[in-house]
Amino acid sequence: MSQLLEILGTKYPIIQGPIGELNDPKMVAAVSEAGGFGMMALGFVQDPEKVKQMAAQVKELTDKPFGANLMIAMNPNNEAILEVLAEAGVKTVTTSAGSPKKIYPKIKELGMKALHVTLAAPLALKATDAGADAVVVSGTESGGLRTTGPESTNLILIPLVCDMVDVPVVAAGGIADRRGFQAALALGAQGVQIGTAFLAAEESPASQSWKESIVGCGDAGTTLLPLGGMAMRTIINPKMSELMASGADLTQEYNMGNAGKAWTTGNFDLFPAGAGQISALIKEIKPVKDIIEEIVS
Ligand SMILES: Cc1cc2nc3c(=O)[nH]c(=O)nc-3n(C[C@H](O)[C@H](O)[C@H](O)COP(=O)(O)O)c2cc1C
Repeated sequence: MSQLLEILGTKYPIIQGPIGELNDPKMVAAVSEAGGFGMMALGFVQDPEKVKQMAAQVKELTDKPFGANLMIAMNPNNEAILEVLAEAGVKTVTTSAGSPKKIYPKIKELGMKALHVTLAAPLALKATDAGADAVVVSGTESGGLRTTGPESTNLILIPLVCDMVDVPVVAAGGIADRRGFQAALALGAQGVQIGTAFLAAEESPASQSWKESIVGCGDAGTTLLPLGGMAMRTIINPKMSELMASGADLTQEYNMGNAGKAWTTGNFDLFPAGAGQISALIKEIKPVKDIIEEIVS
């Protein structure tokens, strides 16, 4: 058994990538039941009581291991949330969006394991120094929040980080099928974290229009939308395409505060649909079980 499978306690080294505020216990349980590591997205959930309820709901649906993602800089209640998770029997979490230094002592005190998500090689070393049991390395092709600076693709980043750290490496970004999974393993990763493909899955709580825009997205159909000090990978829609052609300052045109509303209503003029470059390879809305079974086939 690989070190990563020991950390996750799962059948397969496949982690559900957290997607902003998108949460549904049924989705988390579906990933875990299919042999992956279902994940509650707690980046924006500040109430420990709510976390307790969410974990209880997942546990009603599966007795398989599942975890949670904590966004370090976004949530002031992470320590209290970790205590609730430990009480609920969650053994492994992921951390992202912030320096791991402060939060890892609490994770260790509670006897939990944790993987830290990094977008660049030097940060992977900092994460292991801080006590991360594994690192999730996310190349520029990934969906989600990115930097506005230069970034590497996973083809470069995964082997680079594998050569630097002595903990398991998980590849995040650009993976939706067996080919991507095998490629990640060939680069030295022990497993994968999947965001966009699960976002478009049948059980995903994402709106139908969001899923359909992923399925309809072709080659070079996404871009990094600058949002002040950071960027988000989004699907280029007709309005965004016009703005880009006119040379408009996209930072002024879009407000990330509108993302939640846009993504639930399908009004992508308000804010474009968030998704990774892998959207180009996602051709249909499928059950989680079918996605995972194809990946490990
Ligand atoms: C719309 C969107 C929102 C995301 N939000 C988060 C988040 O809140 N926290 C986080 O750690 N990662 C977030 N991610 C990153 C995913 O968890 C995952 O690492 C990434 O999507 C992997 O790349 P892929 O989309 O190519 O599979 C987000 C990704 C997407 C597409």
